[in-house]
Amino acid sequence: MSNRAKRCSWCGELASVKLPYARLSLCSNHFLEYIERRVKNTIKRYKLIRPGDRVVLSLSGGKDSLALLHILNSLGDDFELCALGVDLGIKKDEYSARSIEVSERYCRELGVEFLKVDLEKDYGFTIDDVFSSRRIRRPVCSSCGVVKRYVTNRAAVELGADSLATGHNLDDESTVLLSNYLNADIDLLVRSGPVLPSRGERMVSRIKPLYETSEWETSMYVYYRGIQPVEQKCPYALDTPISRMKEIVNLLEERRTGSKIALVRGFAKKIKPILAEHHSALGEIGQCEECGYPTSTSVCSFCRLRKRVLNSK
Ligand code: FES
Ligand code: ZN
Ligand code: ZN
Repeated sequence: MSNRAKRCSWCGELASVKLPYARLSLCSNHFLEYIERRVKNTIKRYKLIRPGDRVVLSLSGGKDSLALLHILNSLGDDFELCALGVDLGIKKDEYSARSIEVSERYCRELGVEFLKVDLEKDYGFTIDDVFSSRRIRRPVCSSCGVVKRYVTNRAAVELGADSLATGHNLDDESTVLLSNYLNADIDLLVRSGPVLPSRGERMVSRIKPLYETSEWETSMYVYYRGIQPVEQKCPYALDTPISRMKEIVNLLEERRTGSKIALVRGFAKKIKPILAEHHSALGEIGQCEECGYPTSTSVCSFCRLRKRVLNSK
């Protein structure tokens, strides 16, 4: 996509953004409006939020979740919105401190309630501890995923939320989907899609309002809104197989415009309902013997991870 100057298709002013897939050129104001409408339509199409819902947004200070904060906040007061930040205790480049600072600042500016989970204070360890622990062999990012999923769900349950919104975008979703298709990973496929419904009292349903909005679009959105996301990259972010898969999906999009949206929309509308019906992955789920939160094993992966990190400290 290029930013070649043209006239805005909606108002005739000088265009700032060209969207070839939609055959549109838009000025910055109409681009912001276009993205907000898109997210609103995604919420409607997949029934992500109902009137009166209490929505907790998981906020990292990155461009996607900050864009989502502004978009959800612009959608009116049909539902209640609050934001949640997790201080992961990553000291390098002051990554965690900056993430919390940026998240807190934008919530204050918009008047959105901001709540923080402090991994060290609340659970006794940090992601830096996970990295230094010799007992943990999996990549830090994957342990961090377990931690974030657990602590955000737990906080959302405690806040009485109806749903937990995350900033996963079209690029994340199409990439993970293709990778799960290639691995024929039915369990993960059943858990993919714009909404992962709750499976019990202590599990809040997870929603992805940016399911049909690309990374490029959220970057442009924050840029034209004048939002400055945290500039540091997570020091543990690696060149993983999933980032290589992202390149493949980008290539696919280049050769066949609309591939990403076709992948995610086709999955959510046609494939997931059939999979969910025929697969038991969304069936009964037990309770962790240690914390009481939902798990399919006797002790949940968060409690196992925490124990190993605390034992090696
Ligand atoms: Fe968790 Fe990077 S944010 S490892
Ligand atoms: Zn315009
Ligand atoms: Zn547990």
